[in-house]
Amino acid sequence: MSGLFISFEGIDGAGKSTHIESLAQALEATGRIVVRTREPGGTPLAERLRQILLNEPMDAMSEALIAFAARRNHVEHIIRPALQRHEVVLSDRFTDATFAYQGGGGGLDEDFLSILEQWVHLPLQPDITFWFDVSPEVAAERLKGARLPDKFESQPQEYFAKVRAAYAARMASDASRFVPIDAHQSPQGVWEQVQTALAKRGLLAA
Ligand code: TYD
Repeated sequence: MSGLFISFEGIDGAGKSTHIESLAQALEATGRIVVRTREPGGTPLAERLRQILLNEPMDAMSEALIAFAARRNHVEHIIRPALQRHEVVLSDRFTDATFAYQGGGGGLDEDFLSILEQWVHLPLQPDITFWFDVSPEVAAERLKGARLPDKFESQPQEYFAKVRAAYAARMASDASRFVPIDAHQSPQGVWEQVQTALAKRGLLAA
């Protein structure tokens, strides 16, 4: 059995968190060891960088550099070792988020991000990336009244429209890795889409 790296993406309010936990439990039920992690974060250093990225005002290039510094630490200390032990890594966000938020939302040059991606972790990429796609309107509705919004969550809907478009472009450039999920559906409907995609790959029972 080889290691398996799955990332979860989408704009804030897409509702990925509960499904990450359900998937972790479903994979554990098949006997796999599952590492649940997130970006920015996953190591003590990367969690400190997360606090800075989510709370301090700065330009998109600084954000990307911090995101990739956190990612470097995360890849080297958590992701690669887990994959070498043939475990499953479920990461709430990975590099696609930097392309979407700092590239799409923040207007940062994609070529610059591609260079960072190349140096920091390629050829390692997730085996599967679930993109929880939801309209910025529905996402905003879901976020209303939730906890205090961070720097990104308090962005206007136009920002999230750009982030969403960047996710779509990223999927178009690497279609075999991405599984688009219609996240407008009920939690049960969304879960069935996730389950079906893994069943198709022989990773869960149909
Ligand atoms: P999120 O994953 O939504 O976690 P939570 O559910 O705890 O809020 O929050 C992470 C935020 O960081 C999200 O708004 C997207 C942003 N982000 C970037 O801007 N760039 C990145 O490279 C990453 C990984 C995240």
